[in-house]
Amino acid sequence: MSKSFDVIVIGGGPGGYIAAIRAAQLGFNVACIDEWKNDKGGPAPGGTCTNVGCIPSKALLQSSEHFDHAAHHFGDHGITLSNLKMDVAQMIGRKNTVVKQNNDGILYLLKKNKVAFFHGRGSFAKAAEGGYEIKVAGAADESLVGKHVIVATGSSARRLPGAAFDEDRILSNDGALRIPAVPKTLGVVGSGVIGLEMGSVWRRLGADVTILEALPNFLGAADEGVAKEALKAFTKQGLKFEFGVKISEVNVGKKGRDAQVRVAYANAKGEALTLEVERLIVSIGRVPNTNGLNAEAVGLKLDERGAIVVDGDCKTNLTNVWAVGDVVRGPMLAHKAEEEGVAVAERIAGQHGHVNFNTIPWVIYTSPEIAWVGRTEQQLKAEGVAYKAGQFPFMANGRARALGDTTGFVKFLADAKTDEILGVHIVGPLASELIAEAVVAMEFKASAEDIARICHAHPSLSEATKEAALAVDKRTLNF
Ligand code: FAD
Ligand code: NAI
Repeated sequence: MSKSFDVIVIGGGPGGYIAAIRAAQLGFNVACIDEWKNDKGGPAPGGTCTNVGCIPSKALLQSSEHFDHAAHHFGDHGITLSNLKMDVAQMIGRKNTVVKQNNDGILYLLKKNKVAFFHGRGSFAKAAEGGYEIKVAGAADESLVGKHVIVATGSSARRLPGAAFDEDRILSNDGALRIPAVPKTLGVVGSGVIGLEMGSVWRRLGADVTILEALPNFLGAADEGVAKEALKAFTKQGLKFEFGVKISEVNVGKKGRDAQVRVAYANAKGEALTLEVERLIVSIGRVPNTNGLNAEAVGLKLDERGAIVVDGDCKTNLTNVWAVGDVVRGPMLAHKAEEEGVAVAERIAGQHGHVNFNTIPWVIYTSPEIAWVGRTEQQLKAEGVAYKAGQFPFMANGRARALGDTTGFVKFLADAKTDEILGVHIVGPLASELIAEAVVAMEFKASAEDIARICHAHPSLSEATKEAALAVDKRTLNF
């Protein structure tokens, strides 16, 4: 006998569990199915984000930043340390604890909101009377029927052809988060978000890190000025970059402790080169998880990449089947997945849930941090939009000087006629937090002058935001 629900959510990552909670808040009878297992085989909801993504990567970035400060910056404050050591096992253990706290928190939230949680793989069986029959293959097999189904099955790391992940020498984001000792040499394929964050973690701890990138330019999605400033800082930290490479072969040497990974590639000049490293992280983007869904049983439409085809409202080609997060088009970000999950639950309830794609912030948690919202200068130029730019360096910000971190700047781009903010780009300390003000401003269609006229606490990094807004009108006060 099948159990019936108003809403069944397949996937318990940020898209899925948030959709389930919002649907429950709206009074629906909700099930959430997730197959992620912890090391004891038990449930570990939270998806990529909690288990092998946002949360553990930020935990390691924090640990490695402490180490870097102790090694290179404590002296400036008169603090002397001798015999500084890194206990990698302790760092990984702490990261695992942080992950578990999040898994447990999500289980608690689901329970509190009376969402029925099923641990196992969910797949479409057939269209049934009153909705869709969903099979759960797990510890105990179940059959559920849902009037509405929200698919939030996320994404997995894309493989480099000829270099299967063994999570020992050739690492996806999963293995990159649990390297047991600092490697002497580390290769990274792809200078995107994961490559930069994970490359930074292991570089700070002492690895000699080389990043191989196929494109000729660095961080093409970011504002050019920001990308240039960030590349300068990363290079100074000792990250080595090769752009415009074409990888032809990856081989893992004889097994054992000394096995080296050899990456044969052509550089931008077409010269044949080999990179030999202890471990290789492959971070070349992600692919949607639709293999286990049995989508064909109900005729759910996928595109050529395997992503679920949805319209602007996250509706699929099937009535009452929705899809959100990494498994559909758009940026692969946890907060984008969450916003879509909330909006879909509200649409099911007949409300007008909405996701504004123009104000989804991007953050890269390196040092300096990089964050932006809205359009870049190169996009505005390409679109022929008349704009004004204003920039303010952290070097001229008192709080940044007191913190000892003056790299970077805040940059505002505003419409030349109306002064409406079109984009804000930050590279520097706590850009991840500073960007929130810009998101709010853009969501309210604020002008640069609106921000320039707001009182910002002194001394604070946010004064750099105000000053950059003032710079749009060429009237900074402190620069
Ligand atoms: P997921 O989080 O992938 O969750 C999908 C869940 O569905 C998983 O638990 C999966 O096991 C489960 N599932 C799949 N198929 C089935 C099935 N058939 N039945 C049952 N369960 C199934 N984003 C940010 O915004 N900020 C960051 O700082 C950030 N850092 C990241 C760092 C790394 C290393 C990585 C890899 C990603 C990072 N991301 C970050 C991206 C972020 O993790 C994803 O955008 C986000 O997790 C997508 O959420 P989702 O719910 O769509 O999918
Ligand atoms: P990415 O899309 O950010 O970067 C991939 C890079 O690999 C690109 O620069 C691409 O040109 C390069 N590349 C592709 N094929 C290549 C090849 N054969 N050889 C060399 N280079 C190649 O993807 P990444 O870093 O894997 O991250 C996946 C996604 O996860 C991100 O796009 C982002 O959505 C999410 N994420 C978000 C984070 C955040 O918000 N802070 C942190 C980490 C991941």
